[in-house]
Amino acid sequence: MISGQSNAVVVVPNCNNPMGFIMPEPRKRALLALVQRFDAAVIEDDVYGELVWEYPRPSTIKALDLDGRVLLCSSFSKTLAPGLRVG
Ligand SMILES: Cc1ncc(COP(=O)(O)O)c(C=O)c1O
Repeated sequence: MISGQSNAVVVVPNCNNPMGFIMPEPRKRALLALVQRFDAAVIEDDVYGELVWEYPRPSTIKALDLDGRVLLCSSFSKTLAPGLRVG
């Protein structure tokens, strides 16, 4: 759990726009180690995670989070229709 400071890193680690890059799992673990070291948080936007042409789909950083410092947000609008806004 995060203590005093309120620093955060915002990432779109899976299939980000425009490159479609997928952060490899060792990098996800390295990012977690970094934010643990600096007592920061991760805000993970997994909005494109369900669009990946792989099975199983790449993990979220949240799935690797053991001490509650990752805030995961997502949406199914990109899967359903690109112009849709769910909010
Ligand atoms: C990277 C990213 N995250 C989140 C959202 C939010 O999606 P929604 O409007 O369906 O909540 C968007 C929408 O364009 C987006 O581009």
